[in-house]
Amino acid sequence: MKILITGVAGFIGFHLSRYLLKKKFDVFGIDNLNDYYDIDLKSCRLKILKDEKLRFKKIDISNKAHVDKIFLKENPSHVIHLAAQAGVRFSIDNPFNYINSNIVGFQNIIENCRKYNINHFIYASSSSVYGLNKKIPFSENHITDSPANLYGATKKSNELVAFSYSNLYSLPTTGLRFFTVYGPWGRPDMAYFKFTKNIIEQNPIEVYGYGNMYRDFTYIDDVVYVIGKLINILPKNNGDNKNRSIPAEIYNIGNNKPEHLENFIKIIEDTTKLKAIKNYLPMQMGDIIKTFANINKIYKKIDYIPKINISTGLPMFIDWYKSFYK
Ligand SMILES: NC(=O)c1ccc[n+]([C@@H]2O[C@H](COP(=O)([O-])OP(=O)(O)OC[C@H]3O[C@@H](n4cnc5c(N)ncnc54)[C@H](O)[C@@H]3O)[C@@H](O)[C@H]2O)c1
Repeated sequence: MKILITGVAGFIGFHLSRYLLKKKFDVFGIDNLNDYYDIDLKSCRLKILKDEKLRFKKIDISNKAHVDKIFLKENPSHVIHLAAQAGVRFSIDNPFNYINSNIVGFQNIIENCRKYNINHFIYASSSSVYGLNKKIPFSENHITDSPANLYGATKKSNELVAFSYSNLYSLPTTGLRFFTVYGPWGRPDMAYFKFTKNIIEQNPIEVYGYGNMYRDFTYIDDVVYVIGKLINILPKNNGDNKNRSIPAEIYNIGNNKPEHLENFIKIIEDTTKLKAIKNYLPMQMGDIIKTFANINKIYKKIDYIPKINISTGLPMFIDWYKSFYK
């Protein structure tokens, strides 16, 4: 078994690779180490992975020739595709980053998965595909044709392309709709990270939606557990045509517990023993008020029950933050 992980220097890619390397899997990682957020943080993650024997190549997945070369040389049996331009707010001013990485890049990866007939293609989707959907909790069988922003639209496109490859070529594809993943080594562009930094530095924090927002938070170890389990569980059947097997599956990966923004700020305040200076602002363009994951499907598949809630997980993040940034 040879696993190719894209976006390996990213937050989820880093944790997943460490987990698989510890289990002695043969892991090859790629990443373009872009500067969407602090490159030093990506380099530090990568250094740890290399010390743990990760083989790595810096490439941009939007470059087809480079992606083709990696597949030709490495011939992976499994691909876990995490590389993407993430973030909702950044997509407003930088649409082409999303098209290049999430659409063109995704196509370059999945096309090689088909060409080399790989055993299983697992890829990161997002809770953002639910967009303007009003029904909660969000379930995989809800209609997701109203993304609130371009990021969500690119993730939904990925799901559709993956389904078409499963249909046309019987490529086993599993899409994971992650709900606000957080934890040590997390992403500096995300609210929990910015709040922690600003509260510790006693700078004001920007509280959007006047604080009236909810997020279903998922601790990184729970996410890694799910991916680790799913690698060897191939999708069986999907789609309307029950007479024919289309090996495409999609799962929500969340906590099934939306947390109020003020509550998670309070946990950071209690943990740091510092008071937040709050600057209340209206909701940002493209944002949504609430995310809430129905996780029955993944529970039935692999007995997944999230282990860590934010009152345990946020303090673990804050401990890491303090030791990393001294
Ligand atoms: N963290 C979350 O809360 C969350 C929620 C929903 C979905 N996701 C998805 O999960 C995946 C991983 O997210 P993350 O939080 O680890 O993000 P991340 O930004 O930390 O990791 C993504 C990595 O991909 C790399 N990358 C981006 N574009 C690339 C390109 N064109 N070529 C090569 N490498 C490229 C980046 O350098 C980065 O290291 C992404 O697809 C993201 O959209 C994450």
